Amino acid sequence: MELPPRPTLFDFHGVSMTKYFTDNWVNIQSFKARPDDIVLVSYPKAGNTWVSYILDLLYFSRTSPDRQNSVPLHERVPFLEISIPGFPSGVDELNSINSFPRIIKTHLPVQFLPQSFWEQNSKIIYVARNAKDTVVSYFHFDRMNKAQPEPGDWSSYLQRFMEGKMVFGSWHDHVQGWWEKRKSRSNILYVLYEDLIEDTERELSRLCSFLELSPSTDLKKEVEEKSLFSNMKHNKMANGSADEVLDFKISPFMRKGKVGDWKNHFTVNQDEQFNEDYVKKMRSTDLHFRTVL
Ligand code: PPS
Repeated sequence: MELPPRPTLFDFHGVSMTKYFTDNWVNIQSFKARPDDIVLVSYPKAGNTWVSYILDLLYFSRTSPDRQNSVPLHERVPFLEISIPGFPSGVDELNSINSFPRIIKTHLPVQFLPQSFWEQNSKIIYVARNAKDTVVSYFHFDRMNKAQPEPGDWSSYLQRFMEGKMVFGSWHDHVQGWWEKRKSRSNILYVLYEDLIEDTERELSRLCSFLELSPSTDLKKEVEEKSLFSNMKHNKMANGSADEVLDFKISPFMRKGKVGDWKNHFTVNQDEQFNEDYVKKMRSTDLHFRTVL
């Protein structure tokens, strides 16, 4: 399907957004959560797809094995705020799901999450990734995603990331906003991409205990195996290749899947400038990330 020209960024209640995530705003904000919904939140490129796949396997690989081979992950785990003309909106897709729990993807900053999720006390998993690997991953994603604004060159992109002029706004505000919220809400689990890479088994146990799941040893092994980067990369139902807005001739969606790829992109000067800016923006938080393992 022919897509319109790439969208442009605009300020939306203090957060940079594009129309594809704001056009359906009234329906997003009045979305009716169910108490057993699981909301998977992240700033873009933090590992949302990885954790979606883990959750989908945990909940459905035994009860609906066919789903794994026949339904793309982005349909199994709909994206709440998306609405691109010619495609079903995330809200419509979610409302048509009859299985439970619904696993819901969102990139919304904490202040934008529909009220109903708080009222229903739905379980929320926030996935965060260090800023440097996030911006590199986001840059390559914006190059290949025709529904995102033109990324321009790397150095101007990095500058805009520091200014928070990215779709879904400032990374610094996003990760800190959700981190602070978690301090007063026991229904939020905060997961770090670097921890997942370092010890997937340990993080899987954390996820299961938060979700009150007790998978068999077999199922845990299967989840770990299937959700390995190398396996997901070749899984057409989970590697993004079923998503029509992505141009794989430019870059793969499952690109590197590593901690520290930023070193292949940042110059020494860019790194110094980035660190200086980072310290200022993250001064008042006790949230810490690792940029190497
Ligand atoms: S999106 O489009 O915002 O939903 O992207 P998201 O899924 O959050 O993040 C994409 C990055 O996560 C990497 N990824 C993984 N890394 C390790 N293991 C597994 N299984 C895995 N699955 C996805 C993916 O490769 C993107 O990171 P980069 O650095 O670009 O490779």
